[in-house]
Amino acid sequence: MSDKRLTNLTVYEKAQLVSGGGFWSTRGFEKKGVKPIKTSDGPAGLRVQAENRSDSMGLNSSVPATVFPAHSSLACSFDKRLVNAAARAIGEEARSFGVDILLAPAVNIKRNPLCGRNFEYFSEDEYLSGALGAEYIKGLQSTGVGACVKHFAANNKEYGRTVSDSVVDGRTLNEIYLTPFETCVKEAGPRAVMTAYNRLNGTFCNENTALIRDILRGQWGFDGLVISDWGGTHDRVAAIKAGADLEMPGCKFSVGEIVAAVEDGRLTEAELDECAERVIRATDLKITRKECDFGEHAAFAVECAENCAVLLKNDGVLPLDKSKTVAVIGEYAKKPVYQGGGSSHVNYTDLTNIYDCVKREYRVVGYARGYRKKSTAKRLISRAVKLAKSADVVILCAGLSASDAEGSDRKNLSLPENQLALISAVCAVGKPVVCVLSCGGAVDCPFDGGVNALLFAGLNGQGGGKAVCNILSGKVNPSGKLAEGFPADINAVESTANFNESPYYTVYREGMNVGYKGNAEYKYPFGYGLSYTSFGYSDLCVMDNGVSFVLTNTGGRDGAEAVQLYIIYPEEARSGMRLKGFEKVFLRSGESRRVDIPFDGYSFRSYDGALGKWRVVTGEYELCVGSSSRDIQLRQKTFKTGDISGVTAAKTENPAPAEYALSRDKRGRVKAELSTPFSELHASRALLVRLFVKAALGLFKNNPTVGGTMHYITLRSAAQFARFNTVQAQGFIDAFNGRYLRGAVKMLMIGPEKIGRKKK
Ligand code: BGC
Repeated sequence: MSDKRLTNLTVYEKAQLVSGGGFWSTRGFEKKGVKPIKTSDGPAGLRVQAENRSDSMGLNSSVPATVFPAHSSLACSFDKRLVNAAARAIGEEARSFGVDILLAPAVNIKRNPLCGRNFEYFSEDEYLSGALGAEYIKGLQSTGVGACVKHFAANNKEYGRTVSDSVVDGRTLNEIYLTPFETCVKEAGPRAVMTAYNRLNGTFCNENTALIRDILRGQWGFDGLVISDWGGTHDRVAAIKAGADLEMPGCKFSVGEIVAAVEDGRLTEAELDECAERVIRATDLKITRKECDFGEHAAFAVECAENCAVLLKNDGVLPLDKSKTVAVIGEYAKKPVYQGGGSSHVNYTDLTNIYDCVKREYRVVGYARGYRKKSTAKRLISRAVKLAKSADVVILCAGLSASDAEGSDRKNLSLPENQLALISAVCAVGKPVVCVLSCGGAVDCPFDGGVNALLFAGLNGQGGGKAVCNILSGKVNPSGKLAEGFPADINAVESTANFNESPYYTVYREGMNVGYKGNAEYKYPFGYGLSYTSFGYSDLCVMDNGVSFVLTNTGGRDGAEAVQLYIIYPEEARSGMRLKGFEKVFLRSGESRRVDIPFDGYSFRSYDGALGKWRVVTGEYELCVGSSSRDIQLRQKTFKTGDISGVTAAKTENPAPAEYALSRDKRGRVKAELSTPFSELHASRALLVRLFVKAALGLFKNNPTVGGTMHYITLRSAAQFARFNTVQAQGFIDAFNGRYLRGAVKMLMIGPEKIGRKKK
């Protein structure tokens, strides 16, 4: 035991220390030299809440803070410097509120476009996610605020996220799903890692020794803090054994569980000390508050959004001619869709919208709402059509308002019917139509043949309205590229077939066929994005330490290009084509520059599932430089002598895992236990419980975040969020088993941990 303060703490105090304090903070033992620390979400901005109005679903308000583009948009910048600077600004705001650890970045892979939380993640690609995640961490930690990279690991859907088992073969897991975390840990040294809610290959991530002890700490050398996701603990004793240091939010009854386990020998004090010591070390890095300039950040949020927008189509209508009269159509022009729902929700400081900004630049003939959430009011469409006829050009704002949300997944990639009807009616008028899409991920664009320009604004934060206007007017050249492809048909994407096969498991049968690495066709592929200028690629040189080539701005405007290096692996490596480098290069019109993209430790490696090791396959590698995954401009082969002649393919025939264990009586009725998911109690033995569950789920059926989360939240998490102590938690379970009176009496026993034993 190296820290003297640890020796001064009793077992009971150490149990308290690793069991969190409040909703966002840890417990301090000031007299013994251990300070409390404060955490906050993340990732698109700061979400500091009052302790008595705290939640992990973005329900209650938080302090005003700058809303930066969501990770999904930020990634489209393909710009490491920008991501670093955005995270630094978020860090400065966190520091001004005394936040010690920000719960960001989120580097899970967008395995399938339907995942409701994709907007919070960078990309479908592990290299891009890792590189940008690492920059985010460096920028954030440069302010002294610690980063907590999340959600470790294979958390790729929201349906049943708190109980689901991600069944992934070793090769796929390491190559695709762990690599972004590995890059973050090794290249940027985050202060903390948050374990995911789900199980991985049978064991909850927060209790997963293979994941935490063997891979994270053993292989990658991480010696920072491992924090549970909020309510993501199932067995606290097993979690400590696996090396999960801190349970969040504060859980009173865990304290009793830990003390009892030490007393009866299921947990050694040394195991508890290991976690407690890491918590103490994290609390030593307490932040010193410092004011920051929110006005400057608001301006920078606009710059970020400008770099993130992706121009998908342009027949020449953009940039918009200043002499044209403009009709602005679509509710989202005035009520912007600029961030997703759930724990990443930020309370903006200065919100811009497209309508106000366009009005400052153009002669706007009018605004028509065009659609209303869930309403197909035909008169809204007729008014929009009438307005379109009176203008030279139409700006039509469309998107998704509620489906980019934590807690639930999308059912399809379609825009709402009323918006599709509006777009086709407005296009039929015959005036040029510029469509702006605001949403957190890929959507079907059956209308893109009819519109003259299509700009994917994404979820671009509070500065989004101004940024879009600057792009439409040509003040800024669009330079974003898609960090997630838009599939031509979602059903052809390999993971769609088993995306939501069960709330209790997902078998990753598609193996490494994720995004552009798969066989599906993409309407707008990964890495794709147009510009108002054009770029020429020439003179590729392949060296031992990287590639270099000449990029020329061959068009009439200044602008930036996100250049991409892909490597096609030899057949024996069974990897296909992979992104292995990228740079964002700004060039004046006519300017040329030599661009270098170095190789790194991730460039040529292949994971052999049978050996359980990284190897370099000997063979011919093709180096491809291009402007997207489907537009390679320069290519050259090179031979590499590695340490193996080939690796085994991903084993995609994983068996379906066992059903989630539920306790039942002889008649098959569910007996409530701490591990029981809430909605399973629809089959409870107690009539009142059945009615209650039905009513509660019905109440939130239109709220995807709360409703979706509630279905599969375990009773343990619910008791934890309710801040129950040990006796109350028992009462909670009694009540759910129909022993209402006994349960109610116990639940009234408010107090501290109530461990039911003598305090040690
Ligand atoms: C989310 C985390 C978040 C935490 C705290 C959880 O529901 O999964 O990403 O950091 O809540 O709000």
